[in-house]
Amino acid sequence: RYPHRINIAIDGPAGAGKSTVARLVASELHYVYVDTGAMYRAVTFVAQSRGLQLNDSDSLASLASGLDISLLPGEGGQIVLADGKDVTGLIRSREVTAAVSLVSANAAVRSRMSELQRRMAAAKGVVMDGRDIGTHVLPDAELKVFLTASPRERASRRFLELGDKPAVTLDQLEGEIALRDRMDSEREIAPLRQAADALLIDSTGRSIAEIVDEIVSLGRTAAQAI
Ligand code: DC
Repeated sequence: RYPHRINIAIDGPAGAGKSTVARLVASELHYVYVDTGAMYRAVTFVAQSRGLQLNDSDSLASLASGLDISLLPGEGGQIVLADGKDVTGLIRSREVTAAVSLVSANAAVRSRMSELQRRMAAAKGVVMDGRDIGTHVLPDAELKVFLTASPRERASRRFLELGDKPAVTLDQLEGEIALRDRMDSEREIAPLRQAADALLIDSTGRSIAEIVDEIVSLGRTAAQAI
């Protein structure tokens, strides 16, 4: 029989492998992948390029309320549009990375992004990764995973992504990751937290393929149980 489509929420700290895992799970299941971190990064990039004061919550709020962020499937992965402008490459800079926790702590920004995310998931068949998907955005997701890894391992993965001549040391990266973890976990609205009904998966020392297989099979089981 035709299987039911479910929503899968994958939350966890920076560098745990969420986006790689979520993208592969979505492709195995023929689901849509939604990278919510990219949405917060896009807001941050637009705020910075308009020269907004990032601690001015009113101007961030008015920016967010009118801003349209959309995600499109592209050849080399997901394309991120902010008010129709392609910002895919621009949102991965260290400037954006350093400021995104501040912007994503803003209540109006979060409520606008959550609204867009719920709309994207309304038809089901979505794998959404972020920090508050299982706890806040999609509390009824049929499968929730909290994916983590040790801080050292997360920093090493980021370090390897930087290629031959990294401008930072591994220790600096680990420090930046720890700071972002703390800001994301300690913010007042929708902090990073494992949902009570989420399955904890620690990816330290495990391969991407293993984790993907585990989540795909959990997803198939959950879809059959409906
Ligand atoms: O996953 P990422 O590193 O691209 O996420 C960037 C930032 O966005 C992260 O530091 C916290 C924030 N974020 C959030 O607050 N809520 C989400 N659902 C996703 C990301």
